[in-house]
Amino acid sequence: MQKVKKAIIPAAGLGTRFLPITKALPKPMLPVLDKPNIQYICEELSSVGVEEIIIVVSPGSDVIEKHFGPAEDLEKRLLSDGKTKLYEIERETQKFNVRFAVQKEANGLAGAILCAEEYVKDEPFALLLGDELMYAGEGDTPCIKRLVDIFEQTGKSVIATMEVFGDDVSKYGNFGIKSEKDGVFEINQLLEKPSVNEALSNYALIGRYVLCGEVMAKLKTLKPRNNEIYLTDVLDELAAKGELLAALFDGVRYDVGDKAGYIKANVAYALRSKEIGEDIKEYIKELARQL
Ligand code: UTP
Repeated sequence: MQKVKKAIIPAAGLGTRFLPITKALPKPMLPVLDKPNIQYICEELSSVGVEEIIIVVSPGSDVIEKHFGPAEDLEKRLLSDGKTKLYEIERETQKFNVRFAVQKEANGLAGAILCAEEYVKDEPFALLLGDELMYAGEGDTPCIKRLVDIFEQTGKSVIATMEVFGDDVSKYGNFGIKSEKDGVFEINQLLEKPSVNEALSNYALIGRYVLCGEVMAKLKTLKPRNNEIYLTDVLDELAAKGELLAALFDGVRYDVGDKAGYIKANVAYALRSKEIGEDIKEYIKELARQL
């Protein structure tokens, strides 16, 4: 069975929902507690045998490259000041095998994926959207590991899914279910952000994928609609052939590309922190008394 050795993290969007901070800072660099989201994503990938992470960046944005690169002066200073713990924290950022591809124009997700083609070629790849954060607690399987395991067992492309309620179904990709076993669904149809009445199920597709090698080749042949090419068009074909799965996952997903989701993630990570958790808990209790 084919192994998943490559991962793509698209990080070249305009991030308009977070202007003005995203004018100079790509959205995946926004911190949750003390780390940019893109580092949590690389850590999620450490749970699988991915050998190379391709980060798609916008032209001239070198801050992501800097984050994962060396910082000799800072390291020397931390060591001479005896701050070994902080030195180790800084060194952690350099342990990922990252490469960078530039998306000249923010023409959508499919365009971003195509920018990584020279590295991925016709191999299967993991795709992790830069503005979603997946938290896995003690004993949980990280979301991307769950998907890679399913792909390597079945050879079928697979997308993470979660149950949603009420109007929330209209915010996400949605799918029709052909069959289900152990939280893995066989998809027979896809819908992009359906109305509550149109929805085929209560399940939302989220930003973690493992896709077969054929996807890249198919994307290259797609004709633009409204000046954009859409990943959904390729996924539709896979679903029609019975070759697309969706899988439930352990843990919690945060939409850190959205202001409310971003704040929720920060509160949750702060509460889990050994360093400031107690302090923040007391603060939240105090605030709650005033609500
Ligand atoms: P989003 O559509 O959520 O991000 O893309 P956005 O377009 O940057 O944000 P808003 O809606 O204007 O606030 C999901 C992921 O895909 C990347 C984004 O950086 C984000 O991590 N993306 C999106 C690209 O890399 N290139 C694109 O052209 C579009």
